[in-house]
Amino acid sequence: MWIFLNDRFVTEQDAKISVFDHGFLYGDGVYETIRSYGARIFMRDHHLSRLHRSADAIGLTVPIPPSEWPRLLHEAMDRNQLGNDQTDAYLRITVSRGVGEIGLDPALCQTPTVVIMAKPLHPPAAELYQRGVSLVIAQTRRNLPSALSPQIKATNFLNNILAKREAIAARVFDALLLNWEGHLTEGTVSNVFFISQGRLYTPSVECGLLDGITRTILLQMAGELKIPVHEGRFTPEELLHADECFLTNTSMEVMPVVSVNGQSIGHSTPGPLTRQLHRHFIDNRS
Ligand code: PDD
Repeated sequence: MWIFLNDRFVTEQDAKISVFDHGFLYGDGVYETIRSYGARIFMRDHHLSRLHRSADAIGLTVPIPPSEWPRLLHEAMDRNQLGNDQTDAYLRITVSRGVGEIGLDPALCQTPTVVIMAKPLHPPAAELYQRGVSLVIAQTRRNLPSALSPQIKATNFLNNILAKREAIAARVFDALLLNWEGHLTEGTVSNVFFISQGRLYTPSVECGLLDGITRTILLQMAGELKIPVHEGRFTPEELLHADECFLTNTSMEVMPVVSVNGQSIGHSTPGPLTRQLHRHFIDNRS
């Protein structure tokens, strides 16, 4: 695999960073996960804007000018033989605070570390979309940084990882995290939606969640399909009484959810509006 590291493409063996990198020491950094459909990088500019917004929010200057990213992303795909008829690409950009003495002061780090990785995108198995997945509501709460500034897609994922551990222990697909007030926020790497009596509900960004790019597209598509949308604060009980539920993110698109905490959602099969929204997404994504 060819990896872009700071200023050049290197092989996987040579893609090494220092143990003094504050991304490693403190999770001090930001990232983006982007995908391609064939050669086309989906919502590229939205992801790049979010990357720069995240970096601004933590006072990190991205050393790559915005105009350089498209070329670098396409070179990462080309060098790894991705982004063609056979293989969609999964692209990950990480920008960390960089290498510096131990200590929290960002000024200890002179230059941010930049990494671009490109690998084949493996979407979840078709069977999961047909049957739907199960979730638990995690005991671990969504951590606050994202609540203070929901635009920060930070490399500090410990709460999400602890929630994922809860999902793994419960042998389910994923976990939902509540915020400090006990309201729904999102999945460990996805946003959550539910449908009750023909209306589409999703926690508002103020609940402390990442404002997902797929989430924004879904809200827009619901409008196109004349499905009424309600963003707000919702309790786990409201979700448990819903007719349908689904998760969204860049690599999964729309994943139907059929049970939460062992309780069936709707008829325990992917619901009609979930299917309609996903179909509309597929028909309009390229
Ligand atoms: N995660 N919420 C969280 C906490 C996420 O990490 C993500 C994305 C989303 C959905 O965002 P988007 O629709 O822009 O992908 C919501 C990516 C997939 C990841 O961490 O790899």
